[in-house]
Amino acid sequence: MRKYRTVPENLISEQREFAKKVKDINCRSAKEGNVRYAYVLTFGCQQNEADSERIAGMCESMGYTLCKEPDIADLIIVNTCAIREHAEKKALSIIGQFKHLKESKPDMLIGVCGCMVTQEHRKNQIKHSYPYVDFVFGTSSIYRLPGIVFDKLSKNKRIFCPEEAEYLVAEGMPVARESDFRAWVSVMYGCNNFCTYCIVPYVRGRERSRSSEDIVAEVGELVGKGYKDITLLGQNVNSYGKDAPDEHGNTFDFADLLERLDKIDGDYYLRFMTSHPKDASSKLIDVMSRSKHIARQFHLPVQSGSDRVLTRMNRHYDTSKYLGIVDYMRKKIPDVTLTTDIIVGFPGETEEDFNATLDIIEKVRFDMIYSFIYSPRKGTLAAEMEDRIPDEVKKARFERLLELQNSIALEKNLPLVGKVLKVLCDGESKNNPEVFSGRTEGNKIVMFDKDIARKGDFVNLKIVRAETFALYGEAAD
Ligand code: 5AD
Ligand code: SF4
Repeated sequence: MRKYRTVPENLISEQREFAKKVKDINCRSAKEGNVRYAYVLTFGCQQNEADSERIAGMCESMGYTLCKEPDIADLIIVNTCAIREHAEKKALSIIGQFKHLKESKPDMLIGVCGCMVTQEHRKNQIKHSYPYVDFVFGTSSIYRLPGIVFDKLSKNKRIFCPEEAEYLVAEGMPVARESDFRAWVSVMYGCNNFCTYCIVPYVRGRERSRSSEDIVAEVGELVGKGYKDITLLGQNVNSYGKDAPDEHGNTFDFADLLERLDKIDGDYYLRFMTSHPKDASSKLIDVMSRSKHIARQFHLPVQSGSDRVLTRMNRHYDTSKYLGIVDYMRKKIPDVTLTTDIIVGFPGETEEDFNATLDIIEKVRFDMIYSFIYSPRKGTLAAEMEDRIPDEVKKARFERLLELQNSIALEKNLPLVGKVLKVLCDGESKNNPEVFSGRTEGNKIVMFDKDIARKGDFVNLKIVRAETFALYGEAAD
């Protein structure tokens, strides 16, 4: 028997009882003609989006109707991010704007949750500088939302939920998914790596895996409902299962999990993120190469092309190990789409270090790069490093990196012209509502005429034009 660190069932059912009590209150109000609305606003990564779908699910179980505008909401929940300063500034500014809403609608409840307020100093900032925020809860207490809302409605006291002693997996919570054809499925939570720049281990606790049975059941149910693109989430998916060995010390690892999930019948893609190069195994790549459903796409953050910087980042691999993984991947899956994350301007990054980053980008030729200017995070080791890079140097390096990557991305997209690609239609393009957009197996964006496909359907498109960030397609036959 594997032991998974889950929230005890009695605590989950306690929350279900609270949800029912809030629902009673909301149903009474609805009968009097006042439907209660909840608005959930999300900042940050896919993990936060997945958390927000659980938060939205709990709101529904409390009798709230989900809405897309804060103005009509009776309950607003802001799910925040802490990965860079910019993300925190954006969240604080929006929370600031909600002050007027609250003044015009004093019964409205405003809650703030997520990574930003899992940090003590931000929790205190909300307490003292945003007095109209009714409750705050961190990433370890998401499942407690119904109890918090019930308390707030009955006692009218501000609530600042303390973090749990141990961060656990909460199963059996309702979920209101944003899409009916793309889905997130968390396979594990937390991170043990403590990369020196990163706040995540401080705000999401230690690694804990969900049971493979729960994951297989969730993915099976999604495929049964017609979901076509399922992304498995974890801060470091390659650590999956390591915290839950069986009685003989054997683990059911991420490659085993993928192999098991791939057996689920249906027309769908499985994706996963994020992989850490220190644990990306050849076993994983072998499973991908012989799988039916795993998209031939791999996101493998390298962060820097300088071994000296990688050591200072506490990444536990060097560029030769990284390039070895890429070589093996391309040998086994020649047409794999490769993407990465890069941090520019890490403390002490010299011109030579930065050139080494440009060098690895030239060598690997990624299809896409998510690049970030280093942002010091309070409490992390890198924030204490003295040799900070001036802003203008960081920005100039960032521009050079973009210029190089844009030319590579275009070069990688051009040979796709004339090819027929299977594309999952997402409906109207966000950039141009006149056309539809969709994504390929490699997660590349394709634009096409609206009469070719319906939202949520796969369609075969002949690529007729390629740009740096998008492809353009026509009906293939
Ligand atoms: N500054 C800039 N980028 C960061 N990332 C994580 N922490 C920081 C930081 N302090 C980037 C990393 C990570 C991605 C999700 O965000 O590249 O892979
Ligand atoms: Fe942050 Fe490193 Fe963990 Fe990723 S692996 S979440 S970058 S500490």
